[in-house]
Amino acid sequence: MKISHPAAVREGLHVEEHTGHRERLEKAFLSVQKQLPKMKKAKYRQRYHFMAPAFWINDPNGLIWYQGEYHLFYQYNPFAPCWGEMHWGHAVSSDLVHWKHLPLALAPSEDYDDYELGGCFSGSAVQHGEKLCLFYTGVCCEKNGDEVQRPCLACSGDGVNFTKYRGNPVIRSFPADGSRDFRDPKVWKSGRFWYMAVGSSKNGRGRILLYRSVNLTDWEYMGVMAGSDGKWGTMWECPDFFSLQGKDVLLFSPVGLKDRKAVYSIGSFNESNGNFTPESEGEVDWGFDFYAPQSFSDPKGRRIVIGWANSWDWMPWWNGYGPTQCDGWCGAMSLPRSIKWSGEGVLRFEPIEELQQLRKNHAHLPKTIVVPERPLPLPVDDGISYEICAEIDLSSLKSDEFYFQLRCGREEKTTLTFDRLHNQLTFDRTHSDSYSGGVKSCLLPFSSGGRMRIRIFVDTSSIEIFVNDGATVMSGNIYPDLGSTGASFAVRNGSVTLLSVDTWGLSSIW
Ligand code: FRU
Repeated sequence: MKISHPAAVREGLHVEEHTGHRERLEKAFLSVQKQLPKMKKAKYRQRYHFMAPAFWINDPNGLIWYQGEYHLFYQYNPFAPCWGEMHWGHAVSSDLVHWKHLPLALAPSEDYDDYELGGCFSGSAVQHGEKLCLFYTGVCCEKNGDEVQRPCLACSGDGVNFTKYRGNPVIRSFPADGSRDFRDPKVWKSGRFWYMAVGSSKNGRGRILLYRSVNLTDWEYMGVMAGSDGKWGTMWECPDFFSLQGKDVLLFSPVGLKDRKAVYSIGSFNESNGNFTPESEGEVDWGFDFYAPQSFSDPKGRRIVIGWANSWDWMPWWNGYGPTQCDGWCGAMSLPRSIKWSGEGVLRFEPIEELQQLRKNHAHLPKTIVVPERPLPLPVDDGISYEICAEIDLSSLKSDEFYFQLRCGREEKTTLTFDRLHNQLTFDRTHSDSYSGGVKSCLLPFSSGGRMRIRIFVDTSSIEIFVNDGATVMSGNIYPDLGSTGASFAVRNGSVTLLSVDTWGLSSIW
């Protein structure tokens, strides 16, 4: 049964309330409520990273500043700690650090999005007049078994209760330039037009398709915005687009590579023909666990990006969905990072300054020369959730390799190594715990002089490292024992001058 929604009709978007949607949201809410007591005893819950109240989350969706608050939506399975039947979870924050969980925003309920192996897939949010409009991917299954993915719209006047547009899906089928993989609409406004980038593929190569509209409901196909020349995978998920300091930037998450990663491409976007011309590219995060990022601009004039702090390809190292699944939950978001263009064809991703309010129990180590015989123990509060800021003097560097060892216990340790001979930063999880594993490296240009600035964020089950104001970032999840709290800095040979080390414990946001 459908009931019309007078407020929405008055506002001009002709949305309709489907009672089925409300029932499905209610069912999901009750399931989550039942699971909450279990979360209190869950061992690896993060202290200052965003997590769903319980069960499974993946991509961040619909990031937006709306009516005085930051809104974060996310891919959510409210019935199990593993992927399935996608809903949109929802939370708000005044500072991007402390979050309040709100009622779920979207549940599968209509013929175009009601499918247990589909549902309401990823998308984005825009404000139109006073309304908050969500563009999501409705995923259903046709009688012949084919999965269908299409951009859909849902709107809200209060930022909490969302009503699906009666003309959904807003794009009825994928164009000849695309494929059945046709998802994750990212919508933005420029001048007279709204633009929508949709992730897709053609002949086994990833691409982004572009549409435009004057009213958010009628979309005109413009063409292929950008595509892989073969290097970047078979399909592009979660496209994101923004302009920054006079440059245009595309973000996307390629499928079909050896590892899952999020890529950025800096270039220029031609609004009249919809073409993006790339100039340089890089990875948003070179670690294990950062995928499907989404960005938005905030009232402070920043471009902020948040990623899903996991990746689909963790399974080679693990058996199943990992240790948190036994505790009834799975998945977290990365720290919010503010994006800057360095002016040299690379982007920098810095943790937002609001995180500093979590700092407590400061410790400062003055200038120290570290030699192999004397590793430097680091005072890191309770050894589970903390931040380290270190500065290294590169002009006096007489070592080929120096490293941090974190979350160390009798048999456990996670090692971050700076290798000057190969110009590499390596994140080694071989001994992190009894579940994870793997070694990841990325290039780290060592300049011959100056300072190297290193910031490390450690939480119950993750480590994020930012080098030189976010020019190189690596994130990874680890599951050490809660007794593994040691931290040290050491050198393999020669000596390293640590100009300073500052550490803080980081308070819980929950
Ligand atoms: C990325 C992704 C998206 C999709 C969503 C489904 O992680 O595969 O392309 O919309 O997850 O949950």
